[in-house]
Amino acid sequence: MTDAGTPAPLSFYEEIGGHDTFVRLVDAFYRGVAGDEVLKPMYPEDDLRPAAERLTLFLEQYWGGPSTYSERRGHPRLRMRHASFHVNPDARDRWLRHMRAAVDELDLPPLHEATLWDYLQRAAFAMVNTFEPTGIGPTRPPEATSLLAHPETTKES
Ligand code: HEM
Repeated sequence: MTDAGTPAPLSFYEEIGGHDTFVRLVDAFYRGVAGDEVLKPMYPEDDLRPAAERLTLFLEQYWGGPSTYSERRGHPRLRMRHASFHVNPDARDRWLRHMRAAVDELDLPPLHEATLWDYLQRAAFAMVNTFEPTGIGPTRPPEATSLLAHPETTKES
């Protein structure tokens, strides 16, 4: 309730079902990634569960849920965190294909689905950092990956 006694508006996070919905979304997405010959080799860890948890926490925070992502990882700085990965249009389209299938599984009301999908598309287009074909990379020299090991971003490990 607000001070005026009116109920506080629900966050988008709450509106679409909270934690369970984001877990379902990201689990379905990573099932797609696990079988993707271009995306899967990009992941530094063989076990995709820690990456899935990071994406879940990020999306929950972005949509007004708990701010656990920033507590554990610091500022998102997503473009920077993707700098060492070869994100070309092919990788982006694969990422979006798996995410589209995952969004479909949620069976959200059309307006919510459109809101979520619009964001995911814009974010994926913004993450592209090279137009070199797959197999030619990394896009940045190895020392750029040390940004990922900044103490602020590795509180978990
Ligand atoms: C466009 C294609 C994309 C590719 C190929 C890609 C690939 C990757 C890879 C390989 C990682 C490292 C996995 C890990 O250890 O966490 C990663 C991390 C991550 N990605 Fe993406 N990504 C893409 C787009 C996106 C988008 C659109 C978002 C957000 C909406 C996103 C959010 C994240 C987050 C939150 C992390 C973990 C960052 C951290 O805390 O270290 N990614 N991504």
